[in-house]
Amino acid sequence: MSLPDPALVVLVGASGSGKSTWAASRYRDAEVVSSDALRAVVGSGEHDLDASADAFALLEQVVAARLGRRLTTVVDTLGTDAIRRGAWRDAARAVGLPAVAVVLDTPAGVCRARNAARDRPVPARVLTSQLASVAATVDLLDAEGWQVVRVAVDQSSTDGPALEPARPPASAGAPPGLRGVVLQLSRFPAEGDLLVWLRDMAAAAEEAGLAGLALMDHLIQIPQVGRAWDPIPEPWVTLGALAASTTRLQLGTLVTPVTFRAPGITAKAVATLSALTGGRAFVGVGAGWWEREHAAYGLGFPSARARLDALELGIETMKALWAPGTKPYAGQRISLPETTSYPRPVGEIPVIVGGGGDRTLRIAARLGDGCNVPSDEVGLAKVVRYLALVGQAGRDPASVHATVLDLPLVGRDRDDVWARVERHRGRTAAATFAARHHAGTAAEHAPRLAGLADLGVTTAFVAPVGLDGPDDVLALAPLATAFG
Ligand code: UTP
Ligand code: MG
Repeated sequence: MSLPDPALVVLVGASGSGKSTWAASRYRDAEVVSSDALRAVVGSGEHDLDASADAFALLEQVVAARLGRRLTTVVDTLGTDAIRRGAWRDAARAVGLPAVAVVLDTPAGVCRARNAARDRPVPARVLTSQLASVAATVDLLDAEGWQVVRVAVDQSSTDGPALEPARPPASAGAPPGLRGVVLQLSRFPAEGDLLVWLRDMAAAAEEAGLAGLALMDHLIQIPQVGRAWDPIPEPWVTLGALAASTTRLQLGTLVTPVTFRAPGITAKAVATLSALTGGRAFVGVGAGWWEREHAAYGLGFPSARARLDALELGIETMKALWAPGTKPYAGQRISLPETTSYPRPVGEIPVIVGGGGDRTLRIAARLGDGCNVPSDEVGLAKVVRYLALVGQAGRDPASVHATVLDLPLVGRDRDDVWARVERHRGRTAAATFAARHHAGTAAEHAPRLAGLADLGVTTAFVAPVGLDGPDDVLALAPLATAFG
């Protein structure tokens, strides 16, 4: 069962129907607002009916505050008070959150038996009247505008574990080529053995069944990721090290700016990586955008137009050098007296062009083997545009890669997800940060990525927020099969 999230979730059910048990199996303690629990806070215990007024006053305050922050709020009361229910629904609507009523469809006899077994059972007459109120409430929910979900009695105890990530067998083998999920490593440890860390991360990516591993190509750590003094190793040297410790992962950059190295030198590095890995190399290329790193390293940073010209020239040069033989090359933008480049690459090397400007998409469509854009709505519109441009260029859209950069927040379970949201959100509101990064377990991210595949995306470069170590990479296993 998949419920909207974030959402207002109002439980409806008699005593002993299993409301609190159901809520505890799906939500964090802090997300559940329970009148019983609040009676225990302000009164002598969960069943201190004299504390009801104070408990409900607090409950209303908590519900209003959480909904106002667009945080998932599960209201654990009988759910039969129509006036309170209407107010909660309106408060959710006011902030655009879905309002879900979860009805515990537990047979009266089961509620009675569970009630009787309790320390302080509800009097039988009271339970009978609760059961009648619940039945009457259920008849109203549709008309009140709730999304109604019914939970059958035996489901309430067995649904929980089904939401846990299921890891596919490690022996699933390598997905073909760049198709699938490629782990983008963008942060590196400042202490400890870098090579050991890299090998552990790559081994975890292979074990998780991911398609590849990509590195950024920057000279200084970029502000979007970390601080300028955080380490960022040179990617081609680093990928060379990873070539030696991996057997299945595709390895490459996302993306190499054409402003850093003469394109022939990049062609040489990529061809060498291809030869070292038996054809597991790819290269992302872009026009470069961060002036600071160019200045710091004594590199020119020409106009955007000149950089895009260089991007075209660079792709053409690399492809010329990778082509079979040593013959002279006379192209549109460059002529080379010979194209002697050994070792030869093994198979075709995919050139993924990063950047979403329209000229960049055209360059990708005419000269590249793929484009890379963000996985947000704007980016996905560019995927559609790119695939159309590929067709207009007289090429088969099925022959190219449409790749996205995805920055998910992935946690082991709901508690871990929200602990990570809190750790990484900075000053951004938790609900906003969680939505921006689709905060959830890997099992929850998998259908989202599968949805991208349905739009024509072939590859997701995934750079999880706050990726800590190999265990976090292993936890990505449920994503490995999202692209089929
Ligand atoms: P709950 O305590 O979850 O019921 O379960 P409730 O609806 O929240 O009840 P009130 O309104 O707070 O009084 C009642 C009992 O039933 C068991 C629980 O362990 C608890 O002892 N239960 C619940 C099961 O045995 N199986 C279930 O699937 C759900
Ligand atoms: Mg309860």
